[in-house]
Amino acid sequence: MDTSGTHTVSRTVAPARNLLGSLRLPGDKSISHRYALLAAYASGTTRLRNFSTGADCASSLGCSEDLGAETSLGDDGAIQIVGTGGTLHVPAAPLDCGNSGSTMRMLAGLLAGQHGTFTLIGDASLSRRPMERVRKPLMQMAANITLTDGHAPVIIKGGALTAIDYTTPVPSAQVKTAVLFAGLQANGITTLRESVRTRDHGELALRAFGAELSRTSDSISIAGGQALTGIDATIPGDLSSAAFFLCAASLFPESNLVFDGLGLNPTRATLLDVLTSLGARISVLNLEEKHGELVGTVQLTAPREGLGATTISGALAAQLIDELPVLAAIAPYTRDGIRIRDAKELRVKESDRIALVASNLRAMGAVVEEFEDGLDVRGGQKLHGAEINSGGDHRIAMAFAVAALRATGESVIHGADAAAISFPEFFDLLDLVAER
Ligand code: S3P
Repeated sequence: MDTSGTHTVSRTVAPARNLLGSLRLPGDKSISHRYALLAAYASGTTRLRNFSTGADCASSLGCSEDLGAETSLGDDGAIQIVGTGGTLHVPAAPLDCGNSGSTMRMLAGLLAGQHGTFTLIGDASLSRRPMERVRKPLMQMAANITLTDGHAPVIIKGGALTAIDYTTPVPSAQVKTAVLFAGLQANGITTLRESVRTRDHGELALRAFGAELSRTSDSISIAGGQALTGIDATIPGDLSSAAFFLCAASLFPESNLVFDGLGLNPTRATLLDVLTSLGARISVLNLEEKHGELVGTVQLTAPREGLGATTISGALAAQLIDELPVLAAIAPYTRDGIRIRDAKELRVKESDRIALVASNLRAMGAVVEEFEDGLDVRGGQKLHGAEINSGGDHRIAMAFAVAALRATGESVIHGADAAAISFPEFFDLLDLVAER
């Protein structure tokens, strides 16, 4: 990355014969964010092992420090965070959320209930992403939030909050979590309703830190005025990072990959169902629960006859939102293709992921049809190596490194260093398990 935040490193990816090995991945990004922010708010010390190594979670940790939490590294590699006991400090400078939408949106919820003025800023990509979705419910709770044309900087004048009953118009775990973090500090009981059950790490993290929440099939409620206490936790491996390897391994009949200590929260594990329906053989062993989160060992072997076909739409699209780029990137190598719909949200992620997936697949020689809310990628295609543009988006860089493994000839991923946003070890681990 250069000083303006642009990703400038190119990586060459050669075709592979299969993927073999056993990996233990750095901690889940969604859980790491939430634990870092709640640890800053809680009383006492939180100790986190296997914290995400991605730059996004470092942004959350940095903001926690700027808000008065004291952080240090323990002898065993655990991050120790001494919380502020519910009163965050007002920093002199703006809080830098980097590339991280999770940090900006969830922090907005946490700060809405704090007295003082807080300014949240981000890089060029984050400054283009929609923030009105988080401003709207927080304004209803009586926070004063200013945006510029719906975007960052997010200026929050926090204070006393009133509980609300809110239905999220777009399924979003980040918005849900922001409302629950504000609800924790509001007067009364805040209820959040969603039409699609999005990832529930916010609810589970609040419970882990000692809050009581109640839930029905489509709503979650939290009473304001509850105190939080620090926790001691090992964060499960990130299934959305494993997704790149699981999809890659599915392409080669001789592959055999094992992941230990992987997060298997059911609201995140839809990819395993999709890969199974495409024909991959997946077994899950040693299931355990840690702070409400399921953790286990996952083994994947690929089908001899190749992958089948699938359509991802409706609730599935929301639940698989982070995995759609890599599923689209392997789609040409399936027998009958992958059809993605109801995924318009992909256009407002770190990049316009629908447009970038389509243009990069085309650069590799694939036939792809682009829709406002998805893609049709035909199966049975042969791709060639190409120059890939990551657009500075970590998931695009990694998705096309996977597509490059089954192409003819080498590919060059421009802006490959964007992978460090969520998974700095990605290219090294890929070299470790890919047999060439
Ligand atoms: C996340 C939720 C998703 C996802 C993002 C992480 C979270 O975003 O795309 O990578 O940790 O809550 P939305 O909630 O905006 O869909």
